[in-house]
Amino acid sequence: VTLGATTVGFDAAFHDWMATTQAQVETTLAAELHASTTLPHRLHSAMRYAALGGGKRVRPLLVFAAGEIVDAPASALRKAAVAIELIHVYSLVHDDLPCMDNDTLRRGRPTCHVEYDEATALLVGDALQTRAFELLVSADDSALTPAHQLELVRILAHAAGSCGMAGGQAIDLDSVGKALSVAELELMHALKTGALIRAAVLMGAACGKTTLTPAASEQLDRFAKRAGLLFQVVDDILDCTGTTATLGKTAGKDAANDKPTYVNLLGLTAARELAETLRNDALQALSAIGAQTGRLNALTCFIAHREF
Ligand code: IPE
Ligand code: IPE
Ligand code: MG
Ligand code: MG
Ligand code: MG
Repeated sequence: VTLGATTVGFDAAFHDWMATTQAQVETTLAAELHASTTLPHRLHSAMRYAALGGGKRVRPLLVFAAGEIVDAPASALRKAAVAIELIHVYSLVHDDLPCMDNDTLRRGRPTCHVEYDEATALLVGDALQTRAFELLVSADDSALTPAHQLELVRILAHAAGSCGMAGGQAIDLDSVGKALSVAELELMHALKTGALIRAAVLMGAACGKTTLTPAASEQLDRFAKRAGLLFQVVDDILDCTGTTATLGKTAGKDAANDKPTYVNLLGLTAARELAETLRNDALQALSAIGAQTGRLNALTCFIAHREF
């Protein structure tokens, strides 16, 4: 990940950690997805195409960073990180379909339905989703106890479903061409994107050897919700200010699709101010937790100041 001029809020050591963790996620994903030589070849090849070789891996990074607060074993965090990334990739593949956002570019390459075909892209999403849960509950698991497995499945299933990401996507599709109130837009964003970002943090914390106090749990959840909303506010801003080359996806697509966003509701300046407020709120929640939140702090700054 190159960050250009926006190295605000984190240092070279954090940058190295990010690169190392992203590489580890790539390796684990490559190992956990079936080979393209496994039948059916085309489906497995398309799943690998969608999941490998791109993306910032922000949700896995959040899993690992949150895991540091509770001294979680790396083997457990790897499972949780890969599971949530698979759900995220599935959401992107479906989000890009002609019946949804109708996008042709993703992570700098043709979208899954363009490279393969629509029916395959539909099945890629279905199969990535079930693979995520299969990984979390594998029977031969030394990384996760049954209690940990159950808790991770509960968090991820809720976040991906109709009261989380899928529900937010439904509101998004229903909102095309409509003027939403700030409260309605916040709900849409909190669900379609915020839910999985929040889940990443909660899953990292759920892998712990130690558990958080109720007060610390509450602050971590407050952090996770703020960071989730922040992520989509910045996505809205970048859709408007970024270039297709930098974003790796078609710039200006929200306006072209007549989507309600923070930029068209509040204007660019107020949307940027909101992002700053959310970042500060998120950081404040972290400071109330105290120990071992340095990586989450730096990741929040990355999310706020990223260029793609
Ligand atoms: C894009 O997510 C879609 C949203 C939920 C806003 P990311 O910006 O995390 O996309 P990748 O994974 O880095 O490609
Ligand atoms: C993404 O929202 C929400 C998802 C669940 C994928 P967007 O539609 O704004 O994401 P991009 O901009 O296409 O990545
Ligand atoms: Mg969308
Ligand atoms: Mg989209
Ligand atoms: Mg977007």
